[in-house]
Amino acid sequence: MNAPLKQHLIDPEICIRCNTCEETCPEDAITHDNNNYVVDATKCNFCMDCIQPCPTGSIDNWRIVAQAYSIDDQYSWNELPKQAELASGAEGEAVDAEVLALIDAAHTGAGGKSVAPASAAKPAINLYNRDAAAVATVTGNYRLTHDESDVDVHHVILDFADQPFPVLEGQSIGIVPPGLDADGKPHRIRLYSIASPRHGERPNTNNLALTVKREPNGVCSNYICDLKKGDKVQVTGPFGATFLMPNDPAANIIMICTGTGSAPFRGFTEWRRRAMPGASGRMMLFFGARRPQDLPYFGPLQKVPESLLRKHFAYSRVPGEKKVYVQDLLRREEAAVSGLLASAATHIYVCGLKGMEQGVDAALDDICRGSELRWHELRSQMRAEGRYHVETY
Ligand code: A2P
Repeated sequence: MNAPLKQHLIDPEICIRCNTCEETCPEDAITHDNNNYVVDATKCNFCMDCIQPCPTGSIDNWRIVAQAYSIDDQYSWNELPKQAELASGAEGEAVDAEVLALIDAAHTGAGGKSVAPASAAKPAINLYNRDAAAVATVTGNYRLTHDESDVDVHHVILDFADQPFPVLEGQSIGIVPPGLDADGKPHRIRLYSIASPRHGERPNTNNLALTVKREPNGVCSNYICDLKKGDKVQVTGPFGATFLMPNDPAANIIMICTGTGSAPFRGFTEWRRRAMPGASGRMMLFFGARRPQDLPYFGPLQKVPESLLRKHFAYSRVPGEKKVYVQDLLRREEAAVSGLLASAATHIYVCGLKGMEQGVDAALDDICRGSELRWHELRSQMRAEGRYHVETY
Protein backbone atom coordinates (compact mmCIF):
# COMPACT_ATOMS: atom_id res chain seq x y z
CA MET A 1 0.00 0.00 0.00
CA ASN A 2 1.45 3.41 -0.96
CA ALA A 3 1.57 6.18 1.63
CA PRO A 4 -0.99 8.91 0.96
CA LEU A 5 0.21 11.78 -1.25
CA LYS A 6 -0.57 15.42 -0.99
CA GLN A 7 -1.67 16.82 -4.32
CA HIS A 8 -1.85 20.41 -5.47
CA LEU A 9 -5.00 21.17 -7.50
CA ILE A 10 -6.71 24.20 -9.08
CA ASP A 11 -10.38 24.88 -8.41
CA PRO A 12 -12.07 25.02 -11.84
CA GLU A 13 -15.10 26.83 -10.39
CA ILE A 14 -13.05 29.83 -9.31
CA CYS A 15 -10.10 29.87 -11.77
CA ILE A 16 -10.35 32.72 -14.29
CA ARG A 17 -7.95 31.04 -16.75
CA CYS A 18 -5.61 34.07 -16.65
CA ASN A 19 -2.50 31.91 -17.20
CA THR A 20 -0.59 33.59 -14.34
CA CYS A 21 0.12 30.27 -12.58
CA GLU A 22 1.36 28.60 -15.75
CA GLU A 23 3.68 31.55 -16.40
CA THR A 24 4.93 31.52 -12.81
CA CYS A 25 5.57 27.82 -12.23
CA PRO A 26 9.36 27.21 -12.39
CA GLU A 27 8.77 23.47 -12.84
CA ASP A 28 6.38 23.76 -15.81
CA ALA A 29 3.99 21.68 -13.73
CA ILE A 30 0.93 23.75 -14.66
CA THR A 31 -0.72 23.41 -18.01
CA HIS A 32 -4.18 23.86 -19.52
CA ASP A 33 -6.63 22.81 -22.19
CA ASN A 34 -9.78 24.61 -23.34
CA ASN A 35 -11.56 23.57 -20.17
CA ASN A 36 -9.21 23.75 -17.19
CA TYR A 37 -5.85 24.72 -15.73
CA VAL A 38 -4.26 21.67 -14.09
CA VAL A 39 -1.21 20.68 -12.04
CA ASP A 40 0.99 17.74 -13.03
CA ALA A 41 1.58 15.84 -9.79
CA THR A 42 4.76 14.30 -11.18
CA LYS A 43 6.33 17.75 -11.61
CA CYS A 44 4.90 19.91 -8.79
CA ASN A 45 7.48 20.31 -5.97
CA PHE A 46 5.28 22.51 -3.70
CA CYS A 47 7.55 25.54 -4.11
CA MET A 48 4.40 27.71 -3.66
CA ASP A 49 5.64 30.30 -6.22
CA CYS A 50 2.24 30.16 -7.95
CA ILE A 51 0.11 30.79 -4.84
CA GLN A 52 0.60 34.50 -4.28
CA PRO A 53 0.22 35.76 -7.89
CA CYS A 54 -3.10 33.93 -8.44
CA PRO A 55 -5.77 36.67 -8.45
CA THR A 56 -8.61 34.39 -7.33
CA GLY A 57 -7.12 31.93 -4.84
CA SER A 58 -8.30 29.05 -7.05
CA ILE A 59 -4.69 27.84 -7.09
CA ASP A 60 -4.70 27.20 -3.36
CA ASN A 61 -6.31 23.75 -3.22
CA TRP A 62 -4.93 20.52 -1.83
CA ARG A 63 -6.07 16.96 -1.46
CA ILE A 64 -4.60 13.96 0.29
CA VAL A 65 -4.92 11.10 -2.17
CA ALA A 66 -3.97 7.45 -2.31
CA GLN A 67 -3.17 7.92 -5.99
CA ALA A 68 -2.64 11.28 -7.70
CA TYR A 69 -5.34 12.57 -10.03
CA SER A 70 -3.97 12.58 -13.57
CA ILE A 71 -3.92 15.61 -15.84
CA ASP A 72 -6.73 14.05 -17.88
CA ASP A 73 -8.82 13.58 -14.73
CA GLN A 74 -8.36 17.27 -13.95
CA TYR A 75 -9.17 18.41 -17.51
CA SER A 76 -12.56 16.72 -17.21
CA TRP A 77 -13.62 18.39 -13.95
CA ASN A 78 -16.29 21.04 -13.52
CA GLU A 79 -15.62 21.13 -9.79
CA LEU A 80 -12.97 19.82 -7.44
CA PRO A 81 -13.57 16.34 -6.04
CA LYS A 82 -14.23 16.26 -2.30
CA GLN A 83 -11.45 15.10 0.00
CA ALA A 84 -11.86 11.31 0.00
CA GLU A 85 -11.77 9.41 3.29
CA LEU A 86 -8.37 7.74 3.66
CA ALA A 87 -7.45 4.77 5.78
CA SER A 88 -6.13 6.41 8.93
CA GLY A 89 -2.43 6.07 9.52
CA ALA A 90 0.57 8.00 10.76
CA GLU A 91 1.63 9.07 7.27
CA GLY A 92 -1.80 10.39 6.44
CA GLU A 93 -1.98 12.51 9.53
CA ALA A 94 1.55 13.84 9.06
CA VAL A 95 0.89 14.84 5.46
CA ASP A 96 -2.42 16.43 6.43
CA ALA A 97 -0.75 18.62 9.04
CA GLU A 98 1.89 19.67 6.54
CA VAL A 99 -0.73 20.64 3.99
CA LEU A 100 -2.69 22.59 6.57
CA ALA A 101 0.49 24.49 7.47
CA LEU A 102 1.09 25.30 3.81
CA ILE A 103 -2.48 26.47 3.35
CA ASP A 104 -2.31 28.60 6.49
CA ALA A 105 0.94 30.16 5.28
CA ALA A 106 -0.69 31.13 2.01
CA HIS A 107 -3.68 32.77 3.73
CA THR A 108 -2.62 35.96 5.39
CA GLY A 109 -5.91 37.81 5.67
CA ALA A 110 -8.44 37.68 8.45
CA GLY A 111 -10.93 36.38 5.90
CA GLY A 112 -9.55 32.88 5.46
CA LYS A 113 -11.58 30.33 3.57
CA SER A 114 -15.10 31.43 2.92
CA VAL A 115 -18.42 29.62 2.68
CA ALA A 116 -21.49 30.88 0.82
CA PRO A 117 -24.49 31.95 2.95
CA ALA A 118 -26.94 29.09 3.42
CA SER A 119 -29.77 30.95 1.68
CA ALA A 120 -27.70 32.29 -1.25
CA ALA A 121 -28.81 31.35 -4.76
CA LYS A 122 -26.56 28.88 -6.59
CA PRO A 123 -24.17 30.89 -8.78
CA ALA A 124 -23.24 30.07 -12.36
CA ILE A 125 -19.47 30.04 -12.74
CA ASN A 126 -16.89 30.01 -15.54
CA LEU A 127 -19.26 30.16 -18.46
CA TYR A 128 -16.75 32.11 -20.53
CA ASN A 129 -12.95 32.04 -20.67
CA ARG A 130 -10.19 33.79 -22.63
CA ASP A 131 -10.47 31.39 -25.55
CA ALA A 132 -14.26 31.65 -25.60
CA ALA A 133 -15.02 35.06 -24.11
CA ALA A 134 -18.41 36.74 -24.04
CA VAL A 135 -18.51 39.96 -26.05
CA ALA A 136 -20.27 42.77 -24.23
CA THR A 137 -21.23 46.16 -25.62
CA VAL A 138 -20.66 49.29 -23.55
CA THR A 139 -23.98 51.07 -23.06
CA GLY A 140 -22.81 53.62 -20.50
CA ASN A 141 -19.65 55.00 -18.90
CA TYR A 142 -20.12 57.69 -16.24
CA ARG A 143 -17.68 59.30 -13.85
CA LEU A 144 -18.85 58.70 -10.28
CA THR A 145 -16.59 61.03 -8.36
CA HIS A 146 -16.88 64.82 -8.22
CA ASP A 147 -15.30 66.91 -11.00
CA GLU A 148 -12.84 68.32 -8.47
CA SER A 149 -11.73 64.90 -7.28
CA ASP A 150 -8.37 63.37 -8.26
CA VAL A 151 -9.94 59.97 -7.68
CA ASP A 152 -11.37 58.95 -11.06
CA VAL A 153 -13.98 56.23 -10.53
CA HIS A 154 -16.30 55.11 -13.34
CA HIS A 155 -19.64 53.32 -13.50
CA VAL A 156 -19.52 51.23 -16.66
CA ILE A 157 -22.51 49.32 -18.02
CA LEU A 158 -21.94 46.24 -20.18
CA ASP A 159 -24.71 44.66 -22.20
CA PHE A 160 -24.58 40.99 -23.22
CA ALA A 161 -27.44 41.07 -25.76
CA ASP A 162 -28.52 37.46 -26.42
CA GLN A 163 -25.49 35.78 -24.78
CA PRO A 164 -26.51 34.13 -21.50
CA PHE A 165 -24.55 35.78 -18.70
CA PRO A 166 -26.33 34.96 -15.39
CA VAL A 167 -24.80 36.66 -12.34
CA LEU A 168 -25.47 37.09 -8.65
CA GLU A 169 -24.64 40.09 -6.46
CA GLY A 170 -21.11 39.76 -5.11
CA GLN A 171 -19.76 37.83 -8.10
CA SER A 172 -17.00 39.17 -10.35
CA ILE A 173 -16.24 39.14 -14.03
CA GLY A 174 -12.92 39.11 -15.88
CA ILE A 175 -12.08 41.78 -18.43
CA VAL A 176 -9.58 40.92 -21.16
CA PRO A 177 -7.61 44.07 -21.98
CA PRO A 178 -6.74 44.14 -25.67
CA GLY A 179 -3.15 44.07 -26.88
CA LEU A 180 0.11 42.58 -25.67
CA ASP A 181 2.38 43.29 -22.71
CA ALA A 182 6.07 44.26 -22.90
CA ASP A 183 7.01 40.59 -23.41
CA GLY A 184 4.63 40.25 -26.35
CA LYS A 185 2.15 38.14 -24.39
CA PRO A 186 -1.59 38.89 -24.09
CA HIS A 187 -2.33 41.11 -21.08
CA ARG A 188 -3.49 39.39 -17.93
CA ILE A 189 -7.24 39.25 -17.35
CA ARG A 190 -8.37 41.58 -14.52
CA LEU A 191 -11.21 40.83 -12.14
CA TYR A 192 -13.94 43.36 -11.23
CA SER A 193 -16.86 43.02 -8.83
CA ILE A 194 -20.32 43.37 -10.28
CA ALA A 195 -22.07 46.50 -8.99
CA SER A 196 -25.61 45.69 -10.14
CA PRO A 197 -28.24 43.17 -9.03
CA ARG A 198 -28.83 39.80 -10.65
CA HIS A 199 -31.57 40.92 -13.01
CA GLY A 200 -29.60 43.74 -14.55
CA GLU A 201 -28.62 47.36 -14.06
CA ARG A 202 -32.11 48.09 -15.31
CA PRO A 203 -34.53 45.40 -14.15
CA ASN A 204 -34.87 42.53 -16.58
CA THR A 205 -32.08 43.56 -18.90
CA ASN A 206 -29.15 41.31 -19.77
CA ASN A 207 -26.57 43.81 -18.59
CA LEU A 208 -24.43 44.55 -15.55
CA ALA A 209 -22.45 47.44 -14.08
CA LEU A 210 -18.87 47.71 -12.82
CA THR A 211 -17.26 50.29 -10.52
CA VAL A 212 -13.73 50.89 -11.77
CA LYS A 213 -11.06 53.24 -10.40
CA ARG A 214 -8.47 54.55 -12.84
CA GLU A 215 -5.05 53.49 -11.55
CA PRO A 216 -1.89 55.30 -12.65
CA ASN A 217 -0.42 53.18 -15.48
CA GLY A 218 -3.18 50.59 -14.92
CA VAL A 219 -3.52 48.71 -18.21
CA CYS A 220 -7.05 47.46 -17.66
CA SER A 221 -8.46 50.27 -15.49
CA ASN A 222 -7.44 52.89 -18.06
CA TYR A 223 -8.85 50.73 -20.84
CA ILE A 224 -12.20 50.45 -19.03
CA CYS A 225 -12.42 54.06 -17.86
CA ASP A 226 -11.79 55.23 -21.46
CA LEU A 227 -14.43 52.96 -23.04
CA LYS A 228 -17.04 54.68 -25.18
CA LYS A 229 -20.68 53.74 -25.77
CA GLY A 230 -20.81 51.05 -28.45
CA ASP A 231 -17.31 49.68 -27.76
CA LYS A 232 -17.03 45.88 -27.55
CA VAL A 233 -15.37 44.26 -24.53
CA GLN A 234 -14.16 40.67 -24.05
CA VAL A 235 -15.55 39.30 -20.80
CA THR A 236 -14.83 36.06 -18.89
CA GLY A 237 -16.60 34.52 -15.94
CA PRO A 238 -18.76 34.93 -14.00
CA PHE A 239 -16.59 34.08 -10.98
CA GLY A 240 -17.10 33.71 -7.26
CA ALA A 241 -19.09 31.18 -5.31
CA THR A 242 -18.94 32.48 -1.75
CA PHE A 243 -19.08 36.30 -1.44
CA LEU A 244 -22.79 36.09 -2.15
CA MET A 245 -25.82 37.73 -0.65
CA PRO A 246 -28.23 35.77 1.58
CA ASN A 247 -31.64 35.48 -0.08
CA ASP A 248 -33.28 35.31 3.33
CA PRO A 249 -35.20 38.59 3.79
CA ALA A 250 -34.67 38.27 7.57
CA ALA A 251 -30.88 38.32 7.18
CA ASN A 252 -29.15 41.39 8.63
CA ILE A 253 -26.30 42.54 6.41
CA ILE A 254 -23.41 44.65 7.72
CA MET A 255 -21.34 45.94 4.79
CA ILE A 256 -17.95 47.55 5.35
CA CYS A 257 -16.02 49.02 2.42
CA THR A 258 -13.60 51.56 1.07
CA GLY A 259 -13.66 53.11 -2.43
CA THR A 260 -14.59 50.69 -5.21
CA GLY A 261 -15.11 47.98 -2.58
CA SER A 262 -18.62 49.44 -2.52
CA ALA A 263 -19.45 47.74 -5.84
CA PRO A 264 -20.93 44.48 -4.50
CA PHE A 265 -22.86 46.39 -1.83
CA ARG A 266 -24.59 48.47 -4.47
CA GLY A 267 -25.72 45.13 -5.95
CA PHE A 268 -26.86 43.84 -2.54
CA THR A 269 -28.79 47.01 -1.73
CA GLU A 270 -30.49 47.21 -5.10
CA TRP A 271 -31.55 43.56 -4.99
CA ARG A 272 -33.05 43.99 -1.51
CA ARG A 273 -34.80 47.15 -2.58
CA ARG A 274 -36.24 45.68 -5.77
CA ALA A 275 -36.95 42.09 -4.76
CA MET A 276 -37.73 42.31 -1.04
CA PRO A 277 -39.13 45.75 -0.27
CA GLY A 278 -40.69 44.56 2.99
CA ALA A 279 -37.63 42.63 4.21
CA SER A 280 -37.37 42.47 7.99
CA GLY A 281 -33.55 42.16 7.97
CA ARG A 282 -31.52 45.31 8.54
CA MET A 283 -28.81 46.59 6.23
CA MET A 284 -25.95 48.75 7.49
CA LEU A 285 -23.22 50.31 5.35
CA PHE A 286 -19.87 51.60 6.60
CA PHE A 287 -18.14 53.33 3.70
CA GLY A 288 -14.70 54.96 3.78
CA ALA A 289 -13.34 57.52 1.33
CA ARG A 290 -10.91 60.43 1.43
CA ARG A 291 -13.59 63.12 1.12
CA PRO A 292 -17.26 63.23 0.06
CA GLN A 293 -16.10 64.32 -3.41
CA ASP A 294 -14.07 61.09 -3.72
CA LEU A 295 -16.82 58.72 -2.61
CA PRO A 296 -18.27 56.69 -5.51
CA TYR A 297 -22.09 56.91 -5.68
CA PHE A 298 -22.16 59.78 -3.17
CA GLY A 299 -25.21 61.45 -4.79
CA PRO A 300 -27.30 58.30 -5.43
CA LEU A 301 -26.51 56.97 -1.95
CA GLN A 302 -28.05 60.05 -0.35
CA LYS A 303 -31.34 59.03 -1.96
CA VAL A 304 -31.35 55.50 -0.53
CA PRO A 305 -33.73 55.69 2.44
CA GLU A 306 -32.30 55.03 5.90
CA SER A 307 -35.12 52.56 6.47
CA LEU A 308 -33.56 50.33 3.80
CA LEU A 309 -29.89 51.11 4.46
CA ARG A 310 -28.28 52.69 7.51
CA LYS A 311 -25.36 54.65 6.01
CA HIS A 312 -22.21 55.67 7.84
CA PHE A 313 -19.53 57.53 5.92
CA ALA A 314 -15.94 57.77 7.13
CA TYR A 315 -13.81 60.55 5.61
CA SER A 316 -10.06 60.53 6.07
CA ARG A 317 -8.91 63.70 4.34
CA VAL A 318 -11.42 66.50 4.92
CA PRO A 319 -9.32 69.62 5.57
CA GLY A 320 -9.52 70.74 9.19
CA GLU A 321 -11.22 67.52 10.32
CA LYS A 322 -9.89 64.48 12.14
CA LYS A 323 -9.13 61.42 9.98
CA VAL A 324 -11.97 58.93 10.30
CA TYR A 325 -11.81 55.30 9.10
CA VAL A 326 -14.63 52.76 8.82
CA GLN A 327 -13.40 50.99 11.95
CA ASP A 328 -13.87 54.25 13.93
CA LEU A 329 -17.50 54.34 12.83
CA LEU A 330 -18.04 50.71 13.78
CA ARG A 331 -16.88 51.63 17.29
CA ARG A 332 -19.10 54.72 17.30
CA GLU A 333 -22.10 52.52 16.38
CA GLU A 334 -21.17 49.93 19.00
CA ALA A 335 -24.69 49.49 20.38
CA ALA A 336 -26.30 48.82 17.00
CA VAL A 337 -23.43 46.62 15.80
CA SER A 338 -23.24 44.47 18.93
CA GLY A 339 -27.03 44.07 18.84
CA LEU A 340 -26.74 42.70 15.31
CA LEU A 341 -23.70 40.54 16.11
CA ALA A 342 -25.73 38.75 18.76
CA SER A 343 -28.18 37.58 16.09
CA ALA A 344 -27.65 34.34 14.15
CA ALA A 345 -29.30 36.11 11.19
CA THR A 346 -26.44 38.61 10.83
CA HIS A 347 -23.89 38.53 8.00
CA ILE A 348 -20.74 40.66 7.72
CA TYR A 349 -19.05 41.60 4.44
CA VAL A 350 -15.76 43.50 4.19
CA CYS A 351 -14.60 44.71 0.76
CA GLY A 352 -11.87 47.12 -0.29
CA LEU A 353 -8.36 48.02 0.85
CA LYS A 354 -6.41 45.19 2.44
CA GLY A 355 -5.17 47.60 5.13
CA MET A 356 -8.71 47.94 6.48
CA GLU A 357 -8.99 44.25 7.39
CA GLN A 358 -6.97 44.41 10.58
CA GLY A 359 -8.59 47.62 11.80
CA VAL A 360 -12.09 46.26 11.23
CA ASP A 361 -11.22 43.03 12.99
CA ALA A 362 -9.86 44.95 16.00
CA ALA A 363 -12.99 47.13 16.13
CA LEU A 364 -15.30 44.09 16.07
CA ASP A 365 -13.17 42.52 18.80
CA ASP A 366 -13.54 45.66 20.94
CA ILE A 367 -17.28 45.80 20.33
CA CYS A 368 -17.69 42.17 21.37
CA ARG A 369 -15.57 42.75 24.47
CA GLY A 370 -18.14 45.30 25.57
CA SER A 371 -20.82 42.59 25.51
CA GLU A 372 -21.10 38.89 26.24
CA LEU A 373 -19.65 37.98 22.84
CA ARG A 374 -16.18 36.60 22.04
CA TRP A 375 -15.19 37.91 18.61
CA HIS A 376 -12.64 35.23 17.70
CA GLU A 377 -15.09 32.45 18.47
CA LEU A 378 -17.95 34.29 16.83
CA ARG A 379 -15.86 35.04 13.74
CA SER A 380 -14.99 31.35 13.28
CA GLN A 381 -18.61 30.39 13.74
CA MET A 382 -19.84 33.06 11.35
CA ARG A 383 -17.24 32.07 8.75
CA ALA A 384 -18.21 28.38 9.00
CA GLU A 385 -21.87 29.32 8.63
CA GLY A 386 -21.24 31.50 5.57
CA ARG A 387 -21.95 34.69 7.52
CA TYR A 388 -18.51 36.36 7.44
CA HIS A 389 -16.85 37.38 4.18
CA VAL A 390 -13.74 39.36 3.40
CA GLU A 391 -12.62 40.41 -0.07
CA THR A 392 -9.68 42.79 0.09
CA TYR A 393 -6.90 43.74 -2.34
P1 A2P B 1 -6.34 57.53 3.75
O1 A2P B 1 -6.75 58.94 3.50
O2 A2P B 1 -5.61 57.41 5.05
O3 A2P B 1 -5.57 56.95 2.60
P2 A2P B 1 -8.44 55.18 -1.48
O4 A2P B 1 -9.09 56.47 -1.82
O5 A2P B 1 -6.94 55.23 -1.47
O6 A2P B 1 -8.98 54.01 -2.25
O7 A2P B 1 -8.84 54.86 0.06
C1 A2P B 1 -10.17 54.82 0.48
C2 A2P B 1 -10.25 55.14 1.94
O8 A2P B 1 -9.69 54.08 2.73
C3 A2P B 1 -9.46 56.38 2.30
O9 A2P B 1 -10.27 57.16 3.14
C4 A2P B 1 -8.26 55.83 3.00
O10 A2P B 1 -7.68 56.71 3.97
C5 A2P B 1 -8.91 54.67 3.74
N1 A2P B 1 -7.92 53.78 4.33
C6 A2P B 1 -6.60 53.66 4.07
N2 A2P B 1 -6.00 52.78 4.88
C7 A2P B 1 -6.97 52.31 5.69
C8 A2P B 1 -6.98 51.38 6.79
N3 A2P B 1 -5.89 50.74 7.18
N4 A2P B 1 -8.15 51.14 7.41
C9 A2P B 1 -9.29 51.78 7.02
N5 A2P B 1 -9.32 52.68 6.02
C10 A2P B 1 -8.19 52.94 5.36
